[in-house]
Amino acid sequence: MLAGKKIVLGITGSIAAYKAACLCRALIKKGAEVQVVITPAGKEFITPVTLSALTQKPVVSAFFTANDGTWHSHVDIGLWADLMLIAPATAATIGKMANGIADNMLITTYLSMKAPVFIAPAMDLDMYAHPSTQQNLEKLKSYGNQIIEPATGFLASALEGKGRMEEPDTIVKVLETFFEKKVQLTQKKVLITAGPTYEKIDPVRYISNYSSGKMGFALAEECAARGAEVILITGPVRLETIHPNIKRINVESAEEMHQAALAHFPETDTGILCAAVADYKPVHYSENKLKRKSGESLTLELTPNPDIAKSLGEIKKENQVLVGFALETDNELPNAKEKLQKKNLDFIVLNSLRDAGAGFREDTNKITIIDAEGNAKAFPLKSKKEVAADVMDTITTVRYMSIEEGRRLFHESMKQLENCLKQNDE
Ligand code: PMT
Repeated sequence: MLAGKKIVLGITGSIAAYKAACLCRALIKKGAEVQVVITPAGKEFITPVTLSALTQKPVVSAFFTANDGTWHSHVDIGLWADLMLIAPATAATIGKMANGIADNMLITTYLSMKAPVFIAPAMDLDMYAHPSTQQNLEKLKSYGNQIIEPATGFLASALEGKGRMEEPDTIVKVLETFFEKKVQLTQKKVLITAGPTYEKIDPVRYISNYSSGKMGFALAEECAARGAEVILITGPVRLETIHPNIKRINVESAEEMHQAALAHFPETDTGILCAAVADYKPVHYSENKLKRKSGESLTLELTPNPDIAKSLGEIKKENQVLVGFALETDNELPNAKEKLQKKNLDFIVLNSLRDAGAGFREDTNKITIIDAEGNAKAFPLKSKKEVAADVMDTITTVRYMSIEEGRRLFHESMKQLENCLKQNDE
């Protein structure tokens, strides 16, 4: 998975920098090309000579070479890379990355980076646990960076706790898994609907729901990070897309979302319908603001909106995968299964408002994925980013592998989950 991959390895001033030599070796052995960018403090812990000998490339540390003025372009490095890994990442570098303080070559390279960025923190346990470090890490995650959590163990300070940079072999495995997943969706086109729809009553009022778009946008970023071309049809939300492979189509009403979905679905491999589409719209739109009439009640006549999932289910071809979401408040599994069947979906992702931290607006979600045969796989509460990864792992395993092999793996993981639950009960 790493053969031929171009990796920028950022090294900062931590005692764990000695592990960077092993990391370089492991990456090179796997066939990756490694360009080291090291901070001035990093050079106090490991010499550029060691690193350039291992990588067969000059190590970059400053913006230019002092004796001949050769300029090192952080922009070029940002365009060259397939991935940037910062290991070890100190609290200071994490803070600078989170706040755009571009005072060394590593940070400017990070800010110019077009490829995914992985960060492996290394520091003392109290520094790691400090709210400012945690806040900076959260900020970096929200920008789409991936954090390789430090391990718990013996630290350079002679204390024990969480803060040890993860071992090079584990870091390499994380990167391999990332490229493996990415490959699964290369040359695939995915359509995703997200957010709420607005159904206009008059120029100042509409019918809608609480969807923030977070779940749908997390899916879009996940699919794009795995190499897919994504068409994201979104209702009105306050979110930005990050990945360049996401083509965003902004719509307002269910009718507009329906039209956009019908136009784009035939050219895609997978449709994931995460939008909370308003089921009804007002029959009459008033050109002028409806006036309050004292003492009188107001009755709005509503008519059903098109069911986008059902329409796509009707035109779905054999080689296309269609995934719906079901937001329930009661009778969850039977309701979700009924929607799966009625809309001719291959999978439905159930989330219930009865689960704390799940559903609208939250940064987390708790899902159960149900396949067309009615098999259900439940997941614990996770961040919406992790939930998006679980959804994509499940549907790509089952559909893009051989269907038989995929089903075997799906059933195997269900058995594992059942055993876990049994053990928990015992
Ligand atoms: O956006 P967030 O704040 O992050 O919240 C995420 C979410 C709760 C909106 C999301 O996880 C979710 O559950 N989305 C589906 C919500 C919903 O409308 O569920 P439903 O059970 O009413 O609809 C079932 C399926 O049919 C959904 O895939 C829906 O997109 C689709 N549908 C529904 C009605 C309609 N007219 N057209 C549709 O395509």
